[in-house]
Amino acid sequence: MLAALDWYRAAGVDLAVVETPVDRFAASAAAPRGRPAVAPTPQPAMPRAAEPAAAPPVTISLNADPSETRALAAGAQTLDELRAVMDAYDGCLLKKRATQLCFADGNPDAEIMLVGEGPGEQEDLTGKPFVGRGGQLLDRMLAAIGLDRTKVYIANMVPWRPPGNRNPTPEELALCAPFLHRQVELVAPKLLVTLGNVPTQALFETSLGITRMRGQWKTLSINSVTVPALPTLHPAYLLRTPASKAMAWQDMLSLKRAMQENSVAG
Ligand code: URA
Repeated sequence: MLAALDWYRAAGVDLAVVETPVDRFAASAAAPRGRPAVAPTPQPAMPRAAEPAAAPPVTISLNADPSETRALAAGAQTLDELRAVMDAYDGCLLKKRATQLCFADGNPDAEIMLVGEGPGEQEDLTGKPFVGRGGQLLDRMLAAIGLDRTKVYIANMVPWRPPGNRNPTPEELALCAPFLHRQVELVAPKLLVTLGNVPTQALFETSLGITRMRGQWKTLSINSVTVPALPTLHPAYLLRTPASKAMAWQDMLSLKRAMQENSVAG
């Protein structure tokens, strides 16, 4: 039973909707079978007497409006203010399932900013981006070119964990993007690196996949900031596909060269 619960939790099933189990198989077995000859007959109401009242469903408008997050983000004059505004924001469904806000890690004065996709399980528990196995690999990749978290700033496209580590939906990305954009503006990095498909497609506004985009520097304009940006492979992908580490190494070397060309301290 514990193993089953653990499996559910890892898959993102972490909220009890009712207090006692409901046997949906019994209900569907009791329903009439076969195609109705003329018109659909109304289904018999499910016996509700023994069923406790369901908790109110967590809802969010399907076309939630990013203009709210844009205005909130624009009003934040410092990273601390932005963190507080994001912590208080309740409009993103992801927040309701997450343990806490995962705002950023690293040095806010850094000249290099890395952008990931969204917190995973460990990041959700600690409130810091890239602290799980992928994060440890990222640390080793950075160390290989003389960097560590005192020299970079790390944030994610969405600051709350998507249940079961699924990709954030386009709507969640649209809602949270103004927060990330404002972070870029407040940090004003000299170089930016996107880690994997999700931040690459979101920030470069492209449908091209990361394997097509990686390794190529492009200029990104985000609010008032214009910054050279390099897409590279996501560390979690590298863990699953170690043969791709050679490409990631090429990208790290390219970052190192760009640091020298842009007088970024390593
Ligand atoms: N993957 C991400 O994209 N970000 C994290 O913070 C952790 C894993």
